[in-house]
Amino acid sequence: GRTVAISGTASGIGRTLAEMLRERGDTVIGVDLRDADVCADLGTPEGRDAAVAGVLDRAGGTLDGVVACAGVSGPTPLTVTVNHFGAVALLDGLRPALARAERPRAAAVGSISGTQPLDEDVLRACLDGDEPAALAAAAKVIERGEGNRLYPSSKSALARWLRAASVSPEWAGAGVPLNAVAPGVVRTPMSEPLFADPKMRAVMDRAVPMPLNGYAGPEVIAEAIAWLISPANSHMAGQVVYVDGGAEASLRGPDV
Ligand code: NAI
Repeated sequence: GRTVAISGTASGIGRTLAEMLRERGDTVIGVDLRDADVCADLGTPEGRDAAVAGVLDRAGGTLDGVVACAGVSGPTPLTVTVNHFGAVALLDGLRPALARAERPRAAAVGSISGTQPLDEDVLRACLDGDEPAALAAAAKVIERGEGNRLYPSSKSALARWLRAASVSPEWAGAGVPLNAVAPGVVRTPMSEPLFADPKMRAVMDRAVPMPLNGYAGPEVIAEAIAWLISPANSHMAGQVVYVDGGAEASLRGPDV
């Protein structure tokens, strides 16, 4: 079995992925706020350091896989600190341990939301790696009443960071494939409130059309991530794979 670190294992997609990999014989080191092997807050610099140190401690310095799955979706600055800076810190912090493995793989969890209207200032600050600037920009977005742009901003930033990093000497050059899945709307505790509210449900049906099989469960996304971090995936780098029932193709059309 392989040794894989996964963030967000206390709930939803991360939890389902951890169960799936453990059943297949892998050793999973789960990271989450609570109910995890390593309890740490990916929303703070100290928490990120603790997460990386805790995983390295348990893994013994070598990792076959890392999945940055933890995320939040509220219209608050936390969405930017966890979804972008937390994911980047986990991936970057564990990269040296991946580089020591024979067939290492890494993945992040983006979103179809990363293709939706965002805030350019938040995006730029994220890509500059400037968290204070990102927080300042996020505060302005909220003041303008556009807090719902923070989630798309965070997921777009993560995807753009990943595309650039994946082909750098540190990742591709070190033989570590780095890719992402981007789900549509998935039935998890995160999306539960949307399904519970008929108005939100109608907005969601329009914003994220999924002609193939409609709303999926977390196991569908977990399967795709499991493949991205498996030895079977040997030649893919920097791809954001939409596992979204056709939402991205529907929304963006045939031009690629
Ligand atoms: P979830 O809410 O069920 O699970 C997210 C997990 O991340 C939770 O266990 C939570 O405690 C953890 N987490 C949140 N903040 C954290 C922090 N500061 N430090 C450590 N752990 C933290 O959500 P779900 O649906 O499983 O989401 C997983 C990923 O999939 C997220 O990145 C989300 O943005 C993404 N996604 C989800 C979609 C959906 O419709 N559910 C759609 C597209 C993307």
